[in-house]
Amino acid sequence: MTVQEIKEIMLTVPMIPDMELAVTKTVESLSRFIPFTGDQVDEVKHAIIEACMNAFEHSRSADCRILLVFKVGPCKLTVEIVDHGKGFDPALVEDPKIENKLFKNVRKRGWGLKLMKHLMDEVDIVSNRNGTVVRMVKYADAYRKEALNESV
Ligand SMILES: Nc1ncnc2c1ncn2[C@@H]1O[C@H](COP(=O)(O)OP(=O)(O)OP(=O)(O)O)[C@@H](O)[C@H]1O
Ligand SMILES: [Mg+2]
Repeated sequence: MTVQEIKEIMLTVPMIPDMELAVTKTVESLSRFIPFTGDQVDEVKHAIIEACMNAFEHSRSADCRILLVFKVGPCKLTVEIVDHGKGFDPALVEDPKIENKLFKNVRKRGWGLKLMKHLMDEVDIVSNRNGTVVRMVKYADAYRKEALNESV
């Protein structure tokens, strides 16, 4: 059986410090089955860690756990980061301002969601009072070039 045939790999991590390592190790292992460059693997790891940190810091989930669901395709990785916390409205999150980084007493955070969108090809967030699902997709570069040639 190949990893693509398994279709879904699930990982539940407790919201305790240093659990990011378990997550990044899983991403590294699964990424071997997709023709990602080294930089792309780092981008996926960074985006997933941002989503996990958000669940850790903001979800206030009673079960104190995050579920990660990975789907490994021949040319893409899909991951869902699920928490059962209080949820939020992504439309109400203000865009961070680079100028604010220069000033004291101004909130310098608020970059995680923006980074995730920059690092991944697709980011969709579904959130309500029962929790949040962040679904992200990354395509291998080789696949992107092929798709580009086909559309020419
Ligand atoms: N899983 C989540 N549950 C509840 N609220 C969330 C969740 N993810 C994000 N948020 C909300 O969206 C806001 C923006 O998230 P974002 O990651 O962009 O910034 P941040 O976490 O506040 O700061 P930074 O990521 O730069 O350290 C958060 O401040 C929080 O209010
Ligand atoms: Mg964040």
